[in-house]
Amino acid sequence: MKKLKVGIAGVGFIGPAHLEALRRLPDIEVIAIFNRGAEKVKAKAKQLGVSNYFDDYQQMLDSEPLDCIHICTPNNLHYQQTKEAMERGIHVVCEKPLATTIQEAKDLVNLASATGLVNAVHFNIRYYPMVRQMKLMREKGELGAIYSIIGSYLQDWLFYNTDYNWRLEPEQSGESRALADIGSHLLDLLEHVSGCDITAVMADMNTVHKTRKKPLKPIETYSGKMLQPDDYQDVEINTEDYASVLLRFDNGNKGVITVSQVAAGRKNRLSLEIAGSNKTIGWTSESPNELWMGERDQANGVLLRDPSLFHPEAAKLVSYPGGHNEGFPDTSKQLFKEVYAAIRQGMQPEKPTYPTFEDGLRELILNEAILKSAKQQRWIEL
Ligand SMILES: NC(=O)c1ccc[n+]([C@@H]2O[C@H](COP(=O)([O-])OP(=O)(O)OC[C@H]3O[C@@H](n4cnc5c(N)ncnc54)[C@H](O)[C@@H]3O)[C@@H](O)[C@H]2O)c1
Repeated sequence: MKKLKVGIAGVGFIGPAHLEALRRLPDIEVIAIFNRGAEKVKAKAKQLGVSNYFDDYQQMLDSEPLDCIHICTPNNLHYQQTKEAMERGIHVVCEKPLATTIQEAKDLVNLASATGLVNAVHFNIRYYPMVRQMKLMREKGELGAIYSIIGSYLQDWLFYNTDYNWRLEPEQSGESRALADIGSHLLDLLEHVSGCDITAVMADMNTVHKTRKKPLKPIETYSGKMLQPDDYQDVEINTEDYASVLLRFDNGNKGVITVSQVAAGRKNRLSLEIAGSNKTIGWTSESPNELWMGERDQANGVLLRDPSLFHPEAAKLVSYPGGHNEGFPDTSKQLFKEVYAAIRQGMQPEKPTYPTFEDGLRELILNEAILKSAKQQRWIEL
């Protein structure tokens, strides 16, 4: 079979994770990477074993015969880089958030629809096998009517005022931080699994560290712990470390989410609990192979990830037998498997199984409503 040729833009933290996942799939070859800094991208290419490297994005697009590009740069670059790739007929897998404004995201949805190119957003958390199982349990009526949904996404990598990253700068990250960065995953998952559409939001946010100490040299995500105290300067912070949002759903019932990037000990913990009229289910990304099932009239239970105990459509996302744990790196592999099946067909399917630019746009719409609610301290209808 012809090998599909892929480029990756941005090889900091998540770019190399995309590369690894793509290498676990057949007949896909990452032929080029792009990153700013000639020396840096050269060193990265050597470290990652990719032959062609660029510090000029257009040059990569013009000189490499790419079937698909993965956009893994900071948020403010997603729109332009995605647009330029699609205008050259290249399929795109874009990191979340798809863009930093609703208008940009709408433009990309329109461009994708006009070209028919495959378009995906890397909402990889959907691809934990247990998440697919939860979605199917709900669809098959095992939860009954949904009474309430409680979600949280907690991290601690911005816990100290000396923790710093481009995500703290609105010019690169957008007007929202914790919500855009991790809340987007949570809200996407909540609607995807529950099938409930959010119809109104009421938000309260907090910037715990009003000033932070910015390193005087550039750093990459999660590497801040290695800097020394006199390498910093004080900067004012105006995006949220923490947010809680009350939610109303289209089925008339309610929910709530909390996100925080300053919760000590919570490394990267997304948690979702859906209470239905038959049972409650609870799942967390830090123990992704277990599903808690709450019962009123019998003992509570725990389902361990095991393809033989799953609905067949969820078992498709499992590569290893029960007891052989799968985790974060496997989610991207499973997502890309579905995306590249579409790329082999040459166009976006009518009903894609993977998250699309439309889903990316949905997150920006939710995010804007939440920001508006926090500013005006009132409910905002969607
Ligand atoms: N789906 C997920 O689980 C997940 C996880 C992490 C990050 N992300 C998303 O991936 C994107 C990248 O995040 P990250 O954590 O890898 O960040 P990072 O800072 O680790 O890496 C970003 C890379 O982009 C490069 N870069 C910065 N400015 C550039 C420019 N102007 N031109 C070219 N390259 C530039 C940096 O040098 C770095 O190598 C973000 O949009 C983020 O939201 C998604």
